[in-house]
Amino acid sequence: MTYQNYSLKQLQQIDAAHHLHPFTDHKELREAGSRIITRANGPFIYDSEGTEILDGMAGLWCVNIGYGRDELAEAAYAQMKELPYYNSFFKCSTPTPVLLSKKLAEIAPKHINQVFYGSSGSEANDTALRLVRHYWVLEGKPEKNRIISRKMAYHGSTVAATSLGGMDAMHKQLGGAVPNIVHVMMPYAYELALPGESDHDFGLRAAKAVEDAILEAGADKVAAFIGEPVMGAGGVKIPPVSYWPEVQRICRKYDVLLMLDEVITGYGRTGEWFASQTLGIEPDTITTAKALTSGYQPLSALLVGDRIAATLVGKGGEFNHGYTYSGHPVACAVALKNLEIIEREGLVDRVRNDTGPYFAKALQERIAGHDLVGEVRSIGLMGAIEIVKDKATKERFLPSGSAAVTLRDHAIAQGMMLRATGDTMILSPPLIWTRDTIDMACERISKALDLAQADLRKR
Ligand SMILES: Cc1ncc(COP(=O)(O)O)c(C=O)c1O
Repeated sequence: MTYQNYSLKQLQQIDAAHHLHPFTDHKELREAGSRIITRANGPFIYDSEGTEILDGMAGLWCVNIGYGRDELAEAAYAQMKELPYYNSFFKCSTPTPVLLSKKLAEIAPKHINQVFYGSSGSEANDTALRLVRHYWVLEGKPEKNRIISRKMAYHGSTVAATSLGGMDAMHKQLGGAVPNIVHVMMPYAYELALPGESDHDFGLRAAKAVEDAILEAGADKVAAFIGEPVMGAGGVKIPPVSYWPEVQRICRKYDVLLMLDEVITGYGRTGEWFASQTLGIEPDTITTAKALTSGYQPLSALLVGDRIAATLVGKGGEFNHGYTYSGHPVACAVALKNLEIIEREGLVDRVRNDTGPYFAKALQERIAGHDLVGEVRSIGLMGAIEIVKDKATKERFLPSGSAAVTLRDHAIAQGMMLRATGDTMILSPPLIWTRDTIDMACERISKALDLAQADLRKR
């Protein structure tokens, strides 16, 4: 690597000349120039100017064991020397996806024992969509193929994943979604609960929207419901406790499969290996990616429950689907080492018993009281801060999303990487954060809130 021979300005110029970024207004980016991150260690990232920033987003919800882990680099190096690639098509396999599948079956909920690999969460959701539809075909019910999802859901960026997701801006640019996917209300009590409606009742009402969609189509036409246990990119929307048990009851009642998208919540984020375990949900598929390798290698794993697997294997016939890099030996070697580290360091237990509760308390005690904050919420090491103009009425600043961006920019200047989504700030730090790191984050966020408030007042 010779990037050190280039100045920041040069790198920004080359970036602007040749590099198209994800989810970016390129006109805006090219006027501002990108922030170039050059290295990282533990919980910190460093830009090309050497500025140290505490990474409150674990990269992009993925670097659960933090940066600078030699063991993962060594696992990749050893595997590349031994066997850098071979496919798992045509009745072949390689050792690391075999062993990773065994490991995943051990840590997944009991009734889930099969794995299908891809390289991204989007691909894994594409696989999930095709698999559940294929399942019903094999079961002799090809007309049972509608998928129910939710508004503001994020399931990725391929055509199928965008269609499953409920982001309007993405749908507008799609020019035609995958057919027969419908979106119902999300369980977002802060904005959608009626005056006087309890969290419990709101959760049941949001679940009822799933039942209504099933009844509208007819249960014999509905293949599955898909949801993130906690909506992530949509703003860390944590459903009321009444929501998921009711959704599960409804799915069972109408024989509708339950697909959980745990691309963000998988591998310890909520204090269990999977949020389905935290929330007591028994899904038929679990989509995972990101923290499976802590982001050190691109890898996704669709975890497939026994019911679907029994039909797929029992009825036979080719499932005409797969990727060149399904079960990539290097990515799987890195995942195995990553899971070993999470276990060895007790990171899942630490989130459940120590840092998760401490994080929740810190947000409540040190952030929630600020004038700009309408609500804080968290589950495990995943949190949200609602930015409002008026705490009592929940009025937002205009234009929508602008206050959160102001806060985010101040936070980065204070050495704290946060993400703004709409009017919500979101946090999803590496699971290696300690109480001290949480204290440091709260201090920096508090300062950023004060500075943002001063700015917003001037406007
Ligand atoms: C819940 C969820 N599903 C799917 C995806 C898509 O994953 P990828 O970007 O790896 O395709 C994401 C990405 O953030 C996600 O948050």
